[in-house]
Amino acid sequence: MQQGVENADCLSLAAGLVDPQTLPVELVKEAADQILTPETGPFALQYGTTTGSDGLRDVFKDYLSELEDGSPLAASLPAGQIMLTTGSQQLLALVSQAIFNPGDICLVAAPTYFVYLGVLDGVGAQTIPVHTDGDGMCPQALDEKLAELAEAGQLHRVKMVYVVSYHDNPAGVSVSNERRPQLVSTVKKWSQDQQIFLLEDAAYRELHYDGPRQRSLWSYDDSYSRDEDQTVILSQTFSKSFSPGIRVGVGVLPRQLLKPVADLKGNEDFGSTHLSQNIVASVLQSGAYAKHVQRLIDSYREKRDAMLAAAEEFFTEIPGVSWLHPQGGLYVWMTLPDSVPTGFSSRLFEQATSVDKVMYVPGELCYPSSWEERPTNQMRLSYGVLSPADLRESMRRLAAAVNTVLAESAS
Ligand SMILES: Cc1ncc(COP(=O)(O)O)c(C=O)c1O
Repeated sequence: MQQGVENADCLSLAAGLVDPQTLPVELVKEAADQILTPETGPFALQYGTTTGSDGLRDVFKDYLSELEDGSPLAASLPAGQIMLTTGSQQLLALVSQAIFNPGDICLVAAPTYFVYLGVLDGVGAQTIPVHTDGDGMCPQALDEKLAELAEAGQLHRVKMVYVVSYHDNPAGVSVSNERRPQLVSTVKKWSQDQQIFLLEDAAYRELHYDGPRQRSLWSYDDSYSRDEDQTVILSQTFSKSFSPGIRVGVGVLPRQLLKPVADLKGNEDFGSTHLSQNIVASVLQSGAYAKHVQRLIDSYREKRDAMLAAAEEFFTEIPGVSWLHPQGGLYVWMTLPDSVPTGFSSRLFEQATSVDKVMYVPGELCYPSSWEERPTNQMRLSYGVLSPADLRESMRRLAAAVNTVLAESAS
């Protein structure tokens, strides 16, 4: 954010914002008009409950069932296990406050959502990276890491595994279908003597552009169908698929977490914005939301394609550069030669922002800062905000900056 303010004259591939052109201004206006009648308006403008409006929780349950292709787990989920929050960021923070004591351990995909790394720091958790590739977090690597910690007598400190399961921030990677149940069963395997939660952050679930949709990791947690403690926390949001200004996040919580998280939320705000929850319930119910998401998908797919085409055009000739091809989300993850660090104090960042006037997010922010071997030669490039033409221009500028730095290091 700070760098964005200081480099306001740059084309920004850094901001993870959604596209302002596709924000649902008219839809929200219509929904608000329908809600703000003399009969229903006062109710929507009144305090709600700490866990959120019953109306939206019921509608969300049906919507989740649809997303999970009719999975019986979603259909039988008690609406009382659904909590509405102020964006999913609040859910991530509350859950972390409820679960971690200072010195506890969280295992995270590497790379991962850097804002959540800050939340973990804030609750005093130690963050340990787990090998992650184009199919998401590797279950075997997770198993080995947990075995290592058990061997060292540290398993009791492990409280959570965190995974962004769809088109993640920053790398655009989704956990493969094969790995989804494996990650759940690996966490359960090591939860025999003490509880380890699996926090599934599905923020980009609906921004899916190619291929079949995937069931969530949560849908493989069959303890939700039984009278026992549950493992997976599912976090979703209407920020990416509808509007971040509406600030509605949704969590499906293991029943043993319901009271601790609701107590924390009660102390903080005793309920998120009731009017927003009513607006989201209204557009979900009317079908307007589904049509909006389809329009978004078409628009972001075009931008994703524009960025990938520009990567081909400007980076193919630069030796040692590679990038991932996301099937959804908002980001392309690019790796440069080892000799080109990308951090805020690097020569590349200086060249890109001061001379070529383009900005990106340095990849090293997306790894635990205590991890000494973290890669320093990667970039998160967002195609959310810029137009296809500006995306091409910003990729041209970025390639020029990389070429300048490579030429300097060769001379
Ligand atoms: C992976 C991920 N999770 C959660 C969030 C939080 O979003 P919100 O609080 O708007 O739901 C973001 C926002 O960028 C994100 O990228």
